[in-house]
Amino acid sequence: MVSPLAAAPPQRIIIGIGAGIAAYKIPYLARRLIKDGHDVRIIPTPASLEFVGKTTWSALSDYPVYSDVFEADAGVDHVEAARQADLIIVAPATADLIARMRAGRADDLLTTTLLAATCPVVVVPAMHTAMWEHPATKDNISMLRSRGIVVIEPVEGDLSSGDTGRGRLPEPDDIATAINDLLRTEVTQLPLNGTRAFVTAGGTHEAIDPVRFIGNRSSGRQGCEIAAALRDLGADVTLFAAHIDPELLPSRVRIVETPTAQIMCETVLHEAQAFHIGVFVAAVADFRPREVADQKIKKSTENEGGLTLELVRNPDVLASTVETYPELFTVGFAAETGNTEDVLRAGRDKARRKGATLLAINRVGAQEGFGNVDNELTVVDHSGQVLTTFAGSKHDLARSLCEMIADYYRRSRE
Ligand code: CTP
Repeated sequence: MVSPLAAAPPQRIIIGIGAGIAAYKIPYLARRLIKDGHDVRIIPTPASLEFVGKTTWSALSDYPVYSDVFEADAGVDHVEAARQADLIIVAPATADLIARMRAGRADDLLTTTLLAATCPVVVVPAMHTAMWEHPATKDNISMLRSRGIVVIEPVEGDLSSGDTGRGRLPEPDDIATAINDLLRTEVTQLPLNGTRAFVTAGGTHEAIDPVRFIGNRSSGRQGCEIAAALRDLGADVTLFAAHIDPELLPSRVRIVETPTAQIMCETVLHEAQAFHIGVFVAAVADFRPREVADQKIKKSTENEGGLTLELVRNPDVLASTVETYPELFTVGFAAETGNTEDVLRAGRDKARRKGATLLAINRVGAQEGFGNVDNELTVVDHSGQVLTTFAGSKHDLARSLCEMIADYYRRSRE
């Protein structure tokens, strides 16, 4: 039977298991969430394995089960798992685990993952009434709540000690219902809910012969961050990707490979009609070799004096899209060098030339614009008027820029 709550959008959920007797209920919760369409990964604390062992958790989920940072690939994997998770549920959350979360400890894989996570966290405590009512636990819980953590309160009933009182873990179906409700509200309240957005990212390769090409150093990281930020604001996102390291590609984003400028341009022009927002981050080669040799170019007597490649202009993906779809909300990027004034002047000229709704100007130089160092983005409108400036990591810039895009997009539709 399909669950009536299956309408909650499928999410990547991590369930962290604390060392409490109620851990025996969590396989039911995990199975129910998997049935509802979610992608579930389990991280038990080492002590919780006394209650439910790894064999049970491995049988339930498609992921390897680790509890310690030093196990196999667990240490490397947890940052990625934490980054990709949409929700972490800690259940049962024991008094000790709650105290460790409050203190920001990272003494096992679960607490380390929790520290690395930026997604919503739900804590489902279960313990003896006396422990639940102890001022230390109360204080810890209220601190977790003040950090935005959602607490699903324990219920009254029989406890494992033989006593009766508040402290029981709610039934797995009730927890799953609360989780699905939470996911549904979170998603429907997002500002770009119901909006389709695409991002061009990476660097195109323009073939010279079957093994050589003209390329550029773009990693695609900024475009991937923007795609993820648009997704997290509720948009349905497609990434037109040129040579991006698969590890960087964001989850829950449709990926369409567009390796050359011509393919990217044709694909975007073909698909753009179905979108509301287009963000153009790709480093598109402005030129390509006029002829592509069908065999590898060899050293020969003919080219002893050197080899001349004739280059022809590539289409401008952004400008062509603006021209073809003037209604589309478009955001261009401009990487410029020089002092602040030169950068701004060049960016404003580009904004007027390309006609995008917004243009984000990024100053690049020896220190800025590369790798993970902090960047600055100045956003101008199509007439070149400066709207705002953001500074921060590529991740933070992507978040700030996309919030601004969501705001301007909404206003443009009012
Ligand atoms: N762009 C594009 N297609 C191209 C070149 C650029 O879609 N053939 C887009 C980029 O994705 C970016 C914006 O246009 O959003 C500006 O790119 P940039 O390389 O800074 O500009 P160019 O047009 O190459 O201008 P210039 O060479 O004068 O700096």
